[in-house]
Amino acid sequence: MSGAPREGVVVLISGRGSNLQAIIDAVRAGQVPADIRAVISSEPGAPALARARTSGIPSHVVNFRDFSAREEFDQALMQQIDAYQPRLVVLAGFMRILGKNFIDHYAGRLLNIHPSLLPEFPGLNTHARALRSGTKYHGASVHFVTPEVDGGPVIIQAVIPVLADDRPETLAERVLKQEHRIYPLAIRWFLEGRLSVEDGRVLLDGQPRPEQGLFQPESTPGTPAGPS
Ligand code: GAR
Repeated sequence: MSGAPREGVVVLISGRGSNLQAIIDAVRAGQVPADIRAVISSEPGAPALARARTSGIPSHVVNFRDFSAREEFDQALMQQIDAYQPRLVVLAGFMRILGKNFIDHYAGRLLNIHPSLLPEFPGLNTHARALRSGTKYHGASVHFVTPEVDGGPVIIQAVIPVLADDRPETLAERVLKQEHRIYPLAIRWFLEGRLSVEDGRVLLDGQPRPEQGLFQPESTPGTPAGPS
């Protein structure tokens, strides 16, 4: 790694937390210059909370059911996040739709991972929808968050072939493996200051990403096992 100073990151989750774990592992391995200051869940019972505790990371619940309006939930979430003054906020399986005020507040420093090759299949049930569509390729995307749900500029995508005997579960499993590769890498690029956005397009080290952000980690020399 470049020896960049570690910068504050807050991770928002709602469920299992396998992406959170991949990020924690990459930080521990010295591959991502992050200081994960807190994990915040929208769900009190999220298994990801235990992962945070096990790793000694402060965790909090902001339960959306405690708020009558989304704007109030967003405000409470912002307060909790800002107490940690993060440089970057990472949505890792965070399953609440965030309002414009929230997104504007973190503009340019809010990332999400989505289990499809955006702009294909925004929203839910992406694997079943990909199978039904008959597409030959599927995958995952890391993108900057903008008010359009699953619509912000793409930083990196991992592409996998859809196999003849795939079911939503088998496809999800193979996509998830790729998510665990590309999310730490995108976070690393961000924290090293290598990403910028120009005309809605992401640049890495000032260069346009191939094919509007399409990028296959497997085919990139030097990145076989983790972030580069
Ligand atoms: C991941 O597949 C992530 O891409 C997806 O939820 C899963 C969370 O898994 N996110 C979305 O669908 C957001 N639109 P995890 O909790 O094990 O990281």
